[in-house]
Amino acid sequence: MKKTNSHNQNCSSLQNREEVGARDEQNPTTFAYETKDGPNASSLVCPSMRIRHHKMLRTLLLFAFALTCVVFAGHVEPVLGNTDGVTSIFRPLSQPAQEIKELSVLVLAICGSIFVVVAGLLVYAIVRFRHRAGDELSEPPQVYGSNQIELAWTILPLLIVFVLILVTSRTIANIQNRKPPPTAVQATVIGHQWWWEIRYPELGIVTANELHVPASDGRGSRPTFLKLQSADVAHSFWVPLLAGKTDLIPNRKNLMWIEPTKPGVYLGNCAEYCGTQHARMLIRVVVHPPDEFERWAREQQQSASVETSAAAGRKVFFANSCVNCHTIGGTSAQGKFGPDLTHLMSRETLAAGAAPNTTDNLRLWVRDPQKIKVGCLMPNMQLTDDQVDQVVAYLQTLK
Ligand code: CUA
Repeated sequence: MKKTNSHNQNCSSLQNREEVGARDEQNPTTFAYETKDGPNASSLVCPSMRIRHHKMLRTLLLFAFALTCVVFAGHVEPVLGNTDGVTSIFRPLSQPAQEIKELSVLVLAICGSIFVVVAGLLVYAIVRFRHRAGDELSEPPQVYGSNQIELAWTILPLLIVFVLILVTSRTIANIQNRKPPPTAVQATVIGHQWWWEIRYPELGIVTANELHVPASDGRGSRPTFLKLQSADVAHSFWVPLLAGKTDLIPNRKNLMWIEPTKPGVYLGNCAEYCGTQHARMLIRVVVHPPDEFERWAREQQQSASVETSAAAGRKVFFANSCVNCHTIGGTSAQGKFGPDLTHLMSRETLAAGAAPNTTDNLRLWVRDPQKIKVGCLMPNMQLTDDQVDQVVAYLQTLK
């Protein structure tokens, strides 16, 4: 009520010719709708109100447009073009990502409907009850204390929230309470600045940045259960096509599981800011058909190959402090600070996905890691060009 009154006063005061004249001098464009017909002018419109309505409408339309874009981008983009490497949450290829997606779509549909109803009513009210000539002379009908309306807008939201709580808790419980079947693969993923250490305690395998798991095909369910830990700060393990995010917290063990059915390479990234190279802390999940997974595991269980051709490089490697940080299985290099290099050449990338694992990149990395990944914790070992070539030749024997 008070608002309406003060608004009417504002608008009426504009009808005062002297004031209009005074303001016009300061800003001639302010009262563009003004007529000079005197106090009874019927076409007099309060400009500030009209501007406010326009702004509100524009903001609403922009918001609706942005929301539509976000929703469509998620659904349309995976349909178009090459989908390899696309990590859309709308195209899950594993449990529990599928279950999470179904829940998200339901929640999005409910919230979208609420948005459409509320925004629709708002737009309707803005258009239907916009300022019209002569409005100053009458009051709109005053509604107060309608039991029906108040009951409706209390009970309906309560029911909606109740439905959302029920479906969400059912999904969370389904995912969290799953017990590993005897066939499950157990792996531990440890977040480091800025790479992933991956251990398979039961298989006796240690590797980095590439998590290899079997696919659950027609022959039976074979999920992989992950124990997530951190060696330094908080990280977050997120491979959108396979599962939701789970944080890796220092001094804590978090659990999650994945059960992909389709072999392939699935990309993910650290999803919790963890320092300079957070953005280059990529994870690749390689899903193998079950037999191929067994073969991969057998290869990884071998000690490092010893090839006489790379004796010079091996000597440089073991004479420098490389051994303090890296492990090479079957040798005296047992450092735990950096990635295990026993089967370095079986990995597709270097430095947690920062560069493809090619000879040139390996050379660049050994010469000065900071050139590929600024801020990474591996120092420049100040090797000569010959030494770099020798070390690279040695590393390339680690298949
Ligand atoms: Cu690890 Cu961000």
